Amino acid sequence: MDPVKITDDVYWVGGIDWDLRDFHGYITQKGSTYNSYLIIDEKITLIDTVKHYLFDEMIERISKVVDPSKIDTIISNHVEMDHSGSLPLIKKIAKNVEIVTSPHGEKGLKRHFKEDWKFKVVKTGDSINIGKRDLAFVQTPMVHWPDNMVTYSGYDKLLFSNDAFGQHYASSERFDDNNIEIIIEEAKKYYANIVLPYSKQVRKALEDAGPLDIEIIAPSHGIIWRKNLDILMENYQKWSNNKTDNKALIIYDTMWNSTGKIAYAIQRAFENRGVATRMLNLKSNHISDIMTEVLSAEYICIGSPTLNKNMLPTVSAFLTYLKGLAPQNRKAIAFGSYGWAQGSVNDICDVFESCKFELLDKITVQFIPDEEELDEITRKVEGVIQ
Ligand code: FEO
Repeated sequence: MDPVKITDDVYWVGGIDWDLRDFHGYITQKGSTYNSYLIIDEKITLIDTVKHYLFDEMIERISKVVDPSKIDTIISNHVEMDHSGSLPLIKKIAKNVEIVTSPHGEKGLKRHFKEDWKFKVVKTGDSINIGKRDLAFVQTPMVHWPDNMVTYSGYDKLLFSNDAFGQHYASSERFDDNNIEIIIEEAKKYYANIVLPYSKQVRKALEDAGPLDIEIIAPSHGIIWRKNLDILMENYQKWSNNKTDNKALIIYDTMWNSTGKIAYAIQRAFENRGVATRMLNLKSNHISDIMTEVLSAEYICIGSPTLNKNMLPTVSAFLTYLKGLAPQNRKAIAFGSYGWAQGSVNDICDVFESCKFELLDKITVQFIPDEEELDEITRKVEGVIQ
């Protein structure tokens, strides 16, 4: 339960949620952290808090640096309760603390906690002086809620980025000095499942942060970036601009394996064309892991048999999730089998249309496809791959 020094007088004092396995529907196999940061200056300042059940852990870390009742200012970069959940508890200790937040932050915190706290509302371009440091604010609406903002300390060349650049990754290590492949993969999963719908706002935030001299990025989840900022920025540029790799995903569920056979016939076509493929059966892959693959895939092929004139519920659930996360600029193929009434493939095409995907092909087969039909599907798909 020790604090971790980031720069002179700036400490990580967050909480580690080793057991977390679900974050609003996103499976977090590696747990998560909620990162709070303590700045010891003339005004003692805490940036964000932790989920309520990790309050004791945060307070123990703070207490090893300073008496928590001496905290003057809390900066609330984001209302969501993984970062604000301990505010009511710390307010009981640091009774006169002022909470610095964005306009939507003030409204959101009042709606969440129904408390008459002392707020200072800040906007992009505003800053506060806490002694040696001026802390500047940039609003980053919809990264991840309307209230989000980031806080910059020019003195430390340090950006407290809140949800942006985060990863759900519980670890005893605090910095990106090791295991960069794992950290980037978790940052990718986080982007795909949390940040993706707000890519336009991410591009704006990257533009706004461009002129800042940043040596360290301290997000509110996971590892702190100090060594691999170039790799992080390169990936954020790629993800936020919807840039993909030459990769095809074949995402499907099947009842009597007819749709499964079509899935493999499509996979062969991509393989024959030299396109990397991933077979993703919805019975054995979680939708949040599939979304991580979607983030970098140019081709999205989705298949379902028809059940009661509809898709299988697994496919329908995935499509609902996909539509909400709104990836763009994808090429798509819908496929599936049916017995006596068609339905699933048209339903899949409707979702592709609402996502503005380019439909390359739709493939339907009655009952069981034979070898000749499967070969024909492979040839047909080879023909539409660009
Ligand atoms: Fe980590 Fe949007 O909360």
